[in-house]
Amino acid sequence: MLRWFGVPLVVLSLTACGWGAARQSPGAVQFPPAPRGASGPNPSSGMSVYEADCASCHGAGAQGGIQVADGVISPDIRWGKLRQLHPPYTDALLRRAILDGLAQNGQPLDPNMPRWQGRLSASQVTAVIDYLHTLH
Ligand code: HEC
Repeated sequence: MLRWFGVPLVVLSLTACGWGAARQSPGAVQFPPAPRGASGPNPSSGMSVYEADCASCHGAGAQGGIQVADGVISPDIRWGKLRQLHPPYTDALLRRAILDGLAQNGQPLDPNMPRWQGRLSASQVTAVIDYLHTLH
């Protein structure tokens, strides 16, 4: 009887030690937060902007195809697709579409596409563009 009681106890205390060690390990690498305002592409912070503000309509991988209102289907906004569908597509056009809701030809996009001017900072817009650049 006693022997069998011992087994789960040993397992429990081993598990507890394992967790403790993982938490306190001095060698654990702490990644600093992504630098704010740093120059250069920052697709990883752009991914969080994308997930928070765009994915609900444009889909997890930015392929679009989601019905966002009656008769309104979100477009594919992966960089590779935008360039293929609307050549020559540029960063400036993408930034304008995001900030001001204007299509490539200058016409207003469907009002279901939010106008992000004043809602996203300049660096958030740059970051989300950097992230879209990684999608093809
Ligand atoms: C509430 C839904 C919704 C959200 C949220 C949303 N969009 Fe859109 N977006 C749309 C719709 C709908 C269109 C299509 C408008 C049209 O075709 O006239 C669009 C169009 C676009 C276009 C233009 C594509 C083209 O073909 O010219 C870009 C770029 C874009 N969205 C980027 C974004 C980004 C980046 C975010 C997040 C910061 C975002 N959208 C968030 C609904 C949304």
